[in-house]
Amino acid sequence: MAVTSPPKLDAHKLRADFPIFEQQIHGKPLAYLDSAVSTHKPRQVLEKLKDFYETSYANVHRGVYTLSERSTAEYEGARQKLARFVNAPSDREIVFVRGATEGLNLVAYAWGLVNLGPGDVVVVTELEHHSNFVPWQYIAGRTGATLKMIELDDNGELDLSALDSIAGEGRVKVVANNLVSNALGTINPIEKLSAWAHDQGAIMVVDGAQAAPHKAVDVQALGCDFFAFSAHKMCGPTSVGALWGRLELLESMEPFNLGGHMIRKVTFEETTWGEVPAKYEAGTQPIAEAVGFGAAVDYINEVGLESIERHEHELAVYALDRLAEVPDIKLYGPPADRRAGIVSFNLGDIHPHDVAQVLDLEGVAIRAGHHCCQPLMQKLGVAATNRASFYLYTLPEEIDRLVDGLNKARKVFA
Ligand SMILES: Cc1ncc(COP(=O)(O)O)c(C=O)c1O
Repeated sequence: MAVTSPPKLDAHKLRADFPIFEQQIHGKPLAYLDSAVSTHKPRQVLEKLKDFYETSYANVHRGVYTLSERSTAEYEGARQKLARFVNAPSDREIVFVRGATEGLNLVAYAWGLVNLGPGDVVVVTELEHHSNFVPWQYIAGRTGATLKMIELDDNGELDLSALDSIAGEGRVKVVANNLVSNALGTINPIEKLSAWAHDQGAIMVVDGAQAAPHKAVDVQALGCDFFAFSAHKMCGPTSVGALWGRLELLESMEPFNLGGHMIRKVTFEETTWGEVPAKYEAGTQPIAEAVGFGAAVDYINEVGLESIERHEHELAVYALDRLAEVPDIKLYGPPADRRAGIVSFNLGDIHPHDVAQVLDLEGVAIRAGHHCCQPLMQKLGVAATNRASFYLYTLPEEIDRLVDGLNKARKVFA
């Protein structure tokens, strides 16, 4: 069967959807190469938020009046869009949370505190963002479970050869890993890890914050049990995200936050919980933000995830080639065919903040720091790196401007 590549997206054309690019920074066009930290928002999402507030806003699941019903329908409609977006078997498996961090904490607290104890092993990787590392380290500490790390090889990829020895350390109960690393761009073998986790009788928790915006996600094909992601990294508003979880697990777990609409019945003596997903949605939700998240999913679907993935892959190939021309540069992470549109590097011994400041004067925005991955920085033997990350609106000429800016930084700090 002939393999056809997805249609090429037109990033120049898509940029017209993003009002942020109408401004200049230090007199230069904005080259925003920091989409891994957060993406910009297209007019379609901004207009949806405005329209929702102006015509349909009310609290959800509370009133019997028309506006509340309209608002509830929009909020639940967004849940349906998200369920389809990750191929969830049921809409009820999508829980609205504040972001990937809260989704991962929900699992660590609600599942971990009850199910972990001495003799149990929680497996994370050296590549985790703090949001999928610290909760597990903390809950393992509180329950007496042992925290084990899957190490990285020199390419910044997981060394799975140690899995058997990890299994020998105790009862493996949780495996937690990102599908795409925010620091190195590594694409991780979640299907393999899910199968291994289930062989051990463990649950597989996936941090999808850097994957969902950039590639088609099918939670059933990944074989995982939980998958967390954030709207603000995929053209949507801040303060909302989604946790997908298997229904039977969500039904069997205790709630994480208490109060508001998550109850079935409250008496002076006791409280019983509402149905999933309401059981996990305590208090007034980020209602308009969830609706905006739905609009972001519509936007991304319209552009096409396969086209986005292809575009970012081409940018990663180009960036790795061009950056390799810069003297004294050290690039981190795997080859382009096994990484997303994220490139981390250091420029000689120039501090990453100094590099980023020179680039800012050129209108080029990149991240400098530990990327919320301090254990990984420890592994790499550095305090910080520079990181350029791409999205559907990134242009190849912005990578040229990055390279020019790096050459300028070398001269400034020579
Ligand atoms: C891989 C990864 N996981 C989790 C997070 C946390 O996402 P949020 O801050 O939206 O909760 C991020 C954000 O940078 C991330 O890159």
